[in-house]
Amino acid sequence: MSIEDSMGRPLRDLRISITDRCNFRCTYCMPREKFGAEHAFLAKQEILSYEEMTTVVESLLPLGLKKVRITGGEPLLRKDLSVFVAMLRGLDSELDIALTTNGVLLERHASTLFEAGLNRVTVSIDAVNVEMFQSITDSKNTPKEVFTGIEKAQQCGLGVKVNCVVKSGVNEQEIIPLVQACSQRKIAVRFIEFMDVGTTNNWNLESVVTGEEMRQQIMNHFGNLKKSPAQHPSDVARMWSLEDGTEIGFIESVSNPFCGNCTRARLSAHGSIYTCLFSESGVDIRSILRFGATSVEVAKLIQEIWTKRKDRYSEIRGEADTERKPVEMSFIGG
Ligand code: GTP
Ligand code: 5AD
Ligand code: SF4
Ligand code: SF4
Repeated sequence: MSIEDSMGRPLRDLRISITDRCNFRCTYCMPREKFGAEHAFLAKQEILSYEEMTTVVESLLPLGLKKVRITGGEPLLRKDLSVFVAMLRGLDSELDIALTTNGVLLERHASTLFEAGLNRVTVSIDAVNVEMFQSITDSKNTPKEVFTGIEKAQQCGLGVKVNCVVKSGVNEQEIIPLVQACSQRKIAVRFIEFMDVGTTNNWNLESVVTGEEMRQQIMNHFGNLKKSPAQHPSDVARMWSLEDGTEIGFIESVSNPFCGNCTRARLSAHGSIYTCLFSESGVDIRSILRFGATSVEVAKLIQEIWTKRKDRYSEIRGEADTERKPVEMSFIGG
């Protein structure tokens, strides 16, 4: 059985934020002024347990769920993540289980995660230049550590993709070196248009480099890019390839929105369901989980939420009122 929202979109993917903490302070996501020592992160008892999150996934499988993406914050900061992956794998051998990470802790965890049943990792890296990387992430880490994690993940058998958010006047010059670094390692790289998520990243339209502008830069350097057919209509990245086969994707949420095929629900670390990345509020399901709800009861609640859904924020961005206060991305997961 599958369920559809008010615009006929099925619920196919669940993105679970397992922690609101991160070891980076990327300037566009968790700027240190807003996420400093005095920031109140969620307390342990507020965060869903792995058992509770597994119940949510179990409830959605009969409704057509095909993919779970584990995100954060930085999901590798949470203890025993491989135990959670194994619990999910135990529910369904076919479920696509992916992880979004900044890669710093990947070398340490890749092998146990793969053995627990993780299929893929997507690693975020916005610069290969060390100073630029440290300035964007506001950390002392290096791109080399991230690439070591990526190589370890590849050796273990995990599928690997790279994500890079491009911000005008900040890291456009990193596009070419990143394509080279990923091409050498036979990894697909996806460039993301900077989005107006949350309330703390001072977004404006001038800070967006569009996918079209990025493709132009890449073609000027490497030659022709050819558009690849979409693998699945709900994919957020539109894929292209260079003549040597290097795959390059563009996530054009601002210049070319993809809400029409959006099949993604999000579960925050504190147990609310959000039906859009730009939602201002979610629906609490932690309470019923903690009252002992069964997966059938959880499924019924999420079905009610989903069938009412009419979100298409990226398509109506220009029309939205300016007083909106969307939830932070580090809170509900990218
Ligand atoms: P796969 O295609 O399964 O590899 O994963 P994905 O591309 O869905 O997941 P990933 O976490 O790599 O997403 C890439 C980026 O696309 C995210 O970090 C967001 O910036 C953006 N994105 C993902 N989902 C949405 C969405 O529903 N709406 C918008 N506007 N942006 C999204
Ligand atoms: N715009 C686009 N992508 C973003 N991410 C975080 N904040 C933004 C934003 N404002 C990306 C991260 C990571 C993923 C989880 O989301 O860089 O690749
Ligand atoms: Fe952390 Fe990712 Fe946000 Fe950077 S973009 S602060 S790595 S959650
Ligand atoms: Fe889906 Fe909302 Fe993103 Fe549109 S803006 S693709 S509805 S999450």
